[in-house]
Parts: sequence; structure tokens; C-alpha cells
Amino acid sequence: MIKAEDVSLVYPDGTVGLKDVELHIEKGEFVYIIGPSGSGKTSFLKLLMGIEYPSSGSMQVLGQAIHKDEEKGIRNIRQQMGPVFQDFKLIRGRTALENVVLGMRFLNLPKAEIYFRAEEALQRVGLKHKKSSYVETLSWGQGQRVAIARAIARKPTMIIADEPTGNLDFDNAVNMLDLLTSLKEKDTTVIITTHATHLIDELDEGRILYVDNGNIDNLSREGAAL
Ligand SMILES: Nc1ncnc2c1ncn2[C@@H]1O[C@H](COP(=O)(O)OP(=O)(O)OP(=O)(O)O)[C@@H](O)[C@H]1O
Ligand SMILES: [Mg+2]
Repeated sequence: MIKAEDVSLVYPDGTVGLKDVELHIEKGEFVYIIGPSGSGKTSFLKLLMGIEYPSSGSMQVLGQAIHKDEEKGIRNIRQQMGPVFQDFKLIRGRTALENVVLGMRFLNLPKAEIYFRAEEALQRVGLKHKKSSYVETLSWGQGQRVAIARAIARKPTMIIADEPTGNLDFDNAVNMLDLLTSLKEKDTTVIITTHATHLIDELDEGRILYVDNGNIDNLSREGAAL
């Protein structure tokens, strides 16, 4: 499903985002990516989504090479992804429902199906009562739920969430991770980055990857790199 072989990412200004990453993630895995600010977590997600390409090494996602000559194939696999961005990327001046609907605009679904899925997704994140509210009037946590609803309404093969616990206090952060866990369907691969290392002990599911200075390692739950 995701295969990175000796992948490095160097940004145009010379900053090393990731180096020598060797990683396999299988279908249906639940993966946390943890590590300090600036370590390369978002950079890894950008590679997964084909927003950046490896500067060296090779990367495959859903059978598609992540490479600058593969734009069309990358657009196709993006249809199978449900991203939740660090800054949510909600569209102001539109309601919660419209935002979820807009997340499905390139999926070639009938209009009735799109609205059905959007309502269902808002219900699952507990926000149906806010469906007609403009997103700029929602609280931060509600905005985040809209972003998650937008991702799951796409019925993606992969859910990719960048810092869904950012800004939340401990209880709400645990609730958020529980929510994402509960939304996971059997075959869906879920990849979540988080600063909140102390939360990991609260969760019994999932594999943990630790990113430090552009390197990615598997971590055991006791905290030792494997
Ligand atoms: N477009 C860019 N151009 C140059 N450097 C960048 C770019 N994007 C990220 N970087 C740098 O790459 C490194 C990794 O950044 P990244 O955003 O992946 O970190 P992160 O682990 O997601 O951090 P945070 O926890 O703060 O979100 C940082 O040094 C960052 O400054
Ligand atoms: Mg980040």
C-alpha cells in the first residue's frame, strides 16, 4: 500500500525534510507518526499525497510511483485519499454541509449520493445540528470535525490526518483520537501525525513511527526504537 525505499526529500532552499526513509505500511494499518516540531512529519504526508516528490529513492503509494512524471496517476490515487490538513483548509463563506460536499466534487458521484454521504459524515462526527452554519462561525474543534467529516465522506482507502490533536486539551485530544479510531473501517489505512506523544499510551490500537530530524523509525510502545 505504501512503500518507501531510501527516500529523501530536500526542499529547493536546501532544507532536508526527510532522509533515507525505509518504510512499508500495509492496507488497514492504523499508524501514528510522532516526533518534534520540524522533524519531518508533514513532509512525509506531503510525499504520501504526491504534493512533494522524493529528491532521491523511490516511493509507491497505492501502487502508484510518486514521481514528477506521474502527475496523472497521482491525481487518480488522490481520489482514494481522505486528507485532514493541519490548518483544515475549510472554505469560508460556505456552510459545514457545503464544505463536506465540496470535498467530493471530483469523485464523479451523483448529487443525491454526495448529499447523503455529507449528512451521514456530519452525523458521525456529532455535528449534524451545525450543518447550516458558516464554517467561520464554528469553534476550532467544530471546524476540525467538519474537516474530518469531509475526509470520511469520501469513503477513502487512506485517511491522512495532520495534527488532529493540535490545540486540544488532554481529554479532547483523547476523544479526537478515539473518534478517528471509531471511524476507521476495516480496510481503511489511517495515518495520523501528532505532537502529543503522551496520548499514545491512552490508545490500544496502532503502530507508532517516530520521526527525528528527517529519519523515521518504528517505535515500540515502551518507547524504545525497534
Ligand atoms: N516548503 C518548504 N521549503 C523549505 N523547507 C521546508 C518546507 N516545508 C517544510 N520545510 C522544512 O522541513 C523540515 C520538516 O518540516 P515539516 O513541516 O515536515 O515538520 P513537522 O514535523 O510536520 O513539524 P510540526 O510538528 O511543527 O508540524 C523543517 O525544517 C521545515 O522548516
Ligand atoms: Mg507538521
